[in-house]
This record gives sequence, structure tokens and C-alpha cells, in this order.
Amino acid sequence: MLDVVAEKAHDEARQGEAFAPFAEDPNQYKKKFFIESYGCAMNFADSEIVASILNNDGFGATRNCEEADLIFLNTCSIREKAEQTVRKRLTEFRKLKQAKPGMLVGVLGCMAERLKAKLLEEEKLVDIVVGPDAYRSLPALIEEADGGQKAVNVLLSRDETYADISPIRLNSNGVMAFVSIMRGCNNMCSFCVVPFTRGRERSRDAASIVAECRDLFERGYKEVTLLGQNVDSYYYTADISSNKVVTFADLLEMVALISPDLRVRFSSSHPKDITEDVLQMMAKHENICKCIHLPIQSGSNRVLQLMNRTYTREWYKAKVDRIREVMPDCAITADIIAGFCTETEEDHQDTIEIMEYCKYDFAYMFYYSERPGTLAARRYEDDIPEDIKKRRLAEIVAVQRRLSEGANAADVGKIFKILIEGDSKRSDKDWMGRNTQSKVVVVPKGEGQHKPGDYVIVKVVESTGGTLIGQIIESLKIES
Ligand code: SAH
Ligand code: SF4
Ligand code: F3S
Repeated sequence: MLDVVAEKAHDEARQGEAFAPFAEDPNQYKKKFFIESYGCAMNFADSEIVASILNNDGFGATRNCEEADLIFLNTCSIREKAEQTVRKRLTEFRKLKQAKPGMLVGVLGCMAERLKAKLLEEEKLVDIVVGPDAYRSLPALIEEADGGQKAVNVLLSRDETYADISPIRLNSNGVMAFVSIMRGCNNMCSFCVVPFTRGRERSRDAASIVAECRDLFERGYKEVTLLGQNVDSYYYTADISSNKVVTFADLLEMVALISPDLRVRFSSSHPKDITEDVLQMMAKHENICKCIHLPIQSGSNRVLQLMNRTYTREWYKAKVDRIREVMPDCAITADIIAGFCTETEEDHQDTIEIMEYCKYDFAYMFYYSERPGTLAARRYEDDIPEDIKKRRLAEIVAVQRRLSEGANAADVGKIFKILIEGDSKRSDKDWMGRNTQSKVVVVPKGEGQHKPGDYVIVKVVESTGGTLIGQIIESLKIES
């Protein structure tokens, strides 16, 4: 996330980066568009759907905003800072727009949904506003805007899943891809804007998900991450006449069976919904990665209740115990919010205590940001001063840093299968890849016998804070 206050590691770190798919040769198209994404992985996945819709209408993607006829920002509303970043970006595009009359600027995603037509008034340079369920109407809206009208469609839908749209993966490393399996959220966590910006929960046709994953594998991809705000409540009635239902555990298996060489990840799990069946399915298939993102938000029962999370700290700990029982090597990661309304020092200590108990491998940590219209904004006072929020957050970050370092140090000497993703950030003489727990491992490239997308067996020789350093001890050749 753009305003992630704390550490970033793991694949989700990509959430914070601006993203612009590009066409090999955008000049072959009638017009060029530039799209930049903010927020969660679902927004990034949505941009790939938008790219596909625009492409079918004759628009080519470009990485260079200066040559674009259309500029889209796919936006996030999760915290105030996320919206501020987008507003700043819009002012940066002002100059471009002034220099290029006829260029259109569109706001997509959650901020479009939250602010609707108000965005046109607030940000005078916005021409098009489109919510997350209305992307099919983009070509018509562009035409309207070309004709000089302001174009808005923020209708939310109960059934739109874009199941039939084949996303364009123009910015991908060719190894990993996101696949949306559902949209919206039916939970009402009191702090959260997502139910308002993304609408009701709906699950995508299981067959179309499997087909998309199979197609990715056939094109050389080795890892898919199944995405939803609450993946464990995935529920699809495959055959209405026989009432045959596909649960999330079923879906995991359907995707895992495409090939043992296709890794399957998923995000996020709401602690109340993750089932024993899902844990058993993860344990059953080696290629379902052993990493569960299980946001706790707070360790205090009183705060959890105000947050409307519907579980207690005891219940959550029992869930963590069960995960460890079924899969002793499973990584567990979390989201944590510091300084929610009325949070006392004691509540804060409860959060620290539960972090120590769960020994998270990684966490996203934020301080509370009130979002207009949410239950918390309407019912509770945002009464924790910012300096206290920040101090508590810093304490949480320090605890997590220690836990992550401890977990990494314990990995030295272990042997992991890693999937090579590309050059390491620091040196093109090293590869970076991940193990099943999603931890980054950096290894020397050696004689050049490997490439991104290869699996290798690695022995960890050192751990430096966030990264493990290893040596390749065996190559795994995939027969194909
Ligand atoms: N559906 C996901 C969460 C998506 S939002 C889930 O339930 O796991 C990602 C994270 O942002 C949340 O888990 C929460 O920790 C954080 N977040 C959401 N609203 C927030 C707010 N108003 N202030 C601070 N952090 C917030
Ligand atoms: Fe927001 Fe809660 Fe839904 Fe996650 S589960 S998107 S935190 S309402
Ligand atoms: Fe942000 Fe919307 Fe995702 S608010 S976190 S982009 S669902």
C-alpha cells in the first residue's frame, strides 16, 4: 500500500509501486493510455482488466505518460494518506494536460467510488470517474468525454466479476500473476471503507478462474495468487440444478491440480472464516504455498469488538495454534492497526502480546486513519492523538522487526525450494526468489544455467534482517 508506514517485504510490497503496463508497440493503436495503480493487489489486478477492455477498444498501453492521450489513476481510499497521494499525482498531471489539449484524465477505483461526481468538482482536471464495477463502460465514457462532457459511472454491481475478461499482463515478470476470485466484501469492520467502495461480495465462476490459471501456466507462469478481500468466504454454485457448490478449499485444489509446478498463493483470509478444510487442503498439496495472511488488527478484545472483527484474541490464538499443528512450517503474516478509537495503553500492550505469541513472519502495520462514512467514523470519536498513534505504531514496528529477524535467523542452515523471480535488487550477479513461506532468498547466479521461473533447491547460509542469503545446491528441471 502506498501509505504503508512500516516495513515492506514479501510480494505484497509491490502494492506500493506505481504500475504502468505498456504495449510493445503502442503506435499500432488509435490512441495510447497510461495507467498507474495504487492500493491493494486487487486494484493492480483490476488495472490489468482495464488494460484488456481498453485494448479491445483499440487503445494501446504506454509506460510514458507524456505520450499518452488518456491517463488513468486506479486509486485507493483505505487511509487518508492514500487519497492525498493521488491528489498530488493529479496536480502533477495538470501540466501535461495543459500542454496537450484533448488529453483526458480519468480516476478509477476506490476513490472514484467514494467521491463520485464530487471528484470532478474538487479536481477540476478530472474528465472521467469510474468505479470498480463499471470498467466495461469505459469505452463509452471515453467517447462521451471526448465529446466534451464529464463522464461518470460509479454503479456498483451484485454480480460483476469480469470473469470473461482476459487480463493483459503487460508489466509482469512472466513468473507470477494475480488472479481475482471474488469482488467486494460483506464484512463490516468498523474502520474499513472497502465495503463502501467495492460493494457486496460475489464469487467468480470457478471454471473461469481455473481456465485463467491454466492459461498462465501454459504461458510459462509458475505462481498464481488468488485474490479477494476475504478469500475464505469464496462460494460458487457451479451447477444450479444439482446445487453443486465450490468452496475455497475446493477451488484451491482445482488450481493446485493444474500442475505440481504451479505454485498457488492466496490473500487475504479473515480469521473468522478460514476453515479446517482449507488448512487440510494446504497440507495436502505441496504446491499450495505455506503462508497465511491472517490480519489480527488488534490484540485487545475490547478493541476487536469495537472494530466489529467478530473474533476474540483467544479464538485467534487457537486458530494460529491449529495452523501450526497442521502445518508446522507455515508462515503467518498479519495486518495491525495502532491507535484505533479509545485504544488504551493496556489495549496496545495486548496487541504486542499477541504479536509475540503468534511470532508473525511479517506484518503490515498502520496507524488508524478515520474514513468518512464508516461505522467507526459515525459511532466513535477518533480520540487518540496522532503523536500517540505514531509512538504505538513505532513500538509495534520494532517488535515486528525483532520477530522477523528472529524468524530469519532460525532459517540459517535450512534447505528450501525457491522459485527464481529475477535479478536481486542489489546485484545482477544474484537471483532473488521465494520459498513456500514467501520469504525472499538471494542466491549467486553461478554459471548462468538458471532463469526466472526455475525452481532450485537452496541452502540458507546467512540472514541479514529482511533477506535470506543462500547457495543453490540442486536444480530442479521441469519436464515439459
Ligand atoms: N480485506 C482485507 C483487508 C484489506 S485493507 C482483510 O480483511 O484482510 C488492508 C488493511 O488495511 C487492513 O487489514 C487494515 O489493517 C488496514 N486498514 C483498513 N482500514 C484502515 C483504516 N481506516 N486505518 C488504518 N488502517 C486501515
Ligand atoms: Fe475491510 Fe474487514 Fe472487509 Fe477486510 S474484511 S475489506 S478489513 S471490511
Ligand atoms: Fe484500497 Fe480499494 Fe484495495 S480502498 S486497499 S484499493 S479495495
